[in-house]
Amino acid sequence: MTRALLRFCVLPSALWLLAGCGAPQTAPALTEPASEPPPAASTEINPPSMAIHISDQGEVSEAGTHEAGALIERGERVYQRQCGACHSLDQNRVGPMHRGVIGRAAGTVPGYRYSRALQGLDLVWTDETLDAWLQNPSQMARGTAMGFRLQDAADRAAVIAYLESVSE
Ligand code: HEC
Repeated sequence: MTRALLRFCVLPSALWLLAGCGAPQTAPALTEPASEPPPAASTEINPPSMAIHISDQGEVSEAGTHEAGALIERGERVYQRQCGACHSLDQNRVGPMHRGVIGRAAGTVPGYRYSRALQGLDLVWTDETLDAWLQNPSQMARGTAMGFRLQDAADRAAVIAYLESVSE
């Protein structure tokens, strides 16, 4: 851990992030548990002040890429658990197929029989419209056949990131 910390501290671009790293000769700062960097393999969503991490190779990379990957992985699990009973990416089932849904007009998957409510929904699926939909489909399209709500905001963000990743 101390080696990793030292490596972290000598990387110039990371210097400003950690109080105490500016003066490596002050030993107490290095042994202080509170000054340890976050673990590189953390799957937590770190606050912006921790926006740099060290990979196993000792490279500094944007935590954004790392976190986007973790978010998509979480989204895939949410999708399988929560949406998978009715939806799949490439086949119409109880609900319409999802690949390419981001950027697509609502109610336009070929071969799927939408409710009138959804056919009447005149919008394109984006992060925002999907977020509102998943919170409460029938509030957006009264009488829709999708009787399912995803309450957890972080789960919604994750599943939307996942759908985006399979829509490219
Ligand atoms: C209980 C079954 C069920 C579950 C669970 C479910 N859906 Fe649906 N979904 C449907 C049905 C049925 C429709 C079509 C609604 C209609 O025609 O009114 C639909 C429609 C949609 C649409 C509109 C697609 C389009 O082509 O316009 C989106 C987006 C969507 N669902 C996303 C999700 C996501 C994401 C989840 C999981 C978080 C989910 N659904 C969970 C049944 C479900």
